[in-house]
Amino acid sequence: MQEKTALLFKTAFEEDIFNGLTNHNKYLPSKYFYDSKGDRLFQEIMAMPEYYLTDSEFNILTNFKEQIADLCYKENRPFNLIELGAGDGKKTKILLEYLSETNVPFNYQPIDISQNALDQLALSLKKEMPKVTVQKIQGTYFEGLKKIEASTDKKIILFLGSNIGNMEHKNAIDFLSSIRLYMNDDDLLLVGFDLKKNPQTVLDAYNDSAGITAAFNKNILTRINNTLQGNFNLDTFEHWETYDPQTGTAKSYLVSTIEQVVTIEELELEITFKAWETIHTEISQKYDEQSVHWIANNAGLSIEAEFGDDKNYYKNYIFKKK
Ligand code: AVJ
Repeated sequence: MQEKTALLFKTAFEEDIFNGLTNHNKYLPSKYFYDSKGDRLFQEIMAMPEYYLTDSEFNILTNFKEQIADLCYKENRPFNLIELGAGDGKKTKILLEYLSETNVPFNYQPIDISQNALDQLALSLKKEMPKVTVQKIQGTYFEGLKKIEASTDKKIILFLGSNIGNMEHKNAIDFLSSIRLYMNDDDLLLVGFDLKKNPQTVLDAYNDSAGITAAFNKNILTRINNTLQGNFNLDTFEHWETYDPQTGTAKSYLVSTIEQVVTIEELELEITFKAWETIHTEISQKYDEQSVHWIANNAGLSIEAEFGDDKNYYKNYIFKKK
């Protein structure tokens, strides 16, 4: 057994990949799906008919933009609209457009790890909604929040797309508790939660027939090959999806179809796979009302409002500090 030392690793990526692949139950963190190829594949996923989440949240924001805007501007105080993981802002633009048209005073502060995503978003907003003031904030969510911590302006924090679903419940509670530390009493936190529904609908969303989700998962192997000199043969791994309708947890795996040894030169690592051994890559949690209440309560948040889509597939909750 190779010893794990912090000194060995030049980046968090190296350390996370090492830890995941040397664990008894192999895993790889899904946050590493997103390099430039992964971003493109995720855009394709959002455009697939099976991936209902995007349409559901789009539907909610379209139907309830007025109510949401009213809550944001309740005390007639200008505010900062902070978005965690803005991406291309497709859904956020519905709200931005409405706020801009109704002359509500606010700044848009998208936080994203990708400078490229931020630049493109700011550029498109400049064209489409020149009145909206945009302050790009590059970094992780908490680096971003730290940068704007000093401001006493009212904050509306957006965490859309059911990104919270990538966290196990305990981690979701910790995450929301940490966000809460950046909130004042009047501040709001709007979070998208994907709901429990027909299990087949969930499975189809993560197991599309065109194989885009499989390519998205396998992209992490490509990334290891390219950046850490690995020799994963993608053809010997199969993407497998499960959904447990009781717990609401969808899980993604990459399954080695053969017995094999994979080498990662940069980590001086040889990983053996038995035939049909798995790498767990992602969870995409689905929620019911009770689980959202339980999570919010444990994170010290109260529910100020909630908005669902026409199909009852998805809900956006607005939280306040309890
Ligand atoms: C971006 C985390 C919300 O889990 O639904 C899409 C990522 N994974 N298809 C999700 C994803 C496979 C997505 N989130």
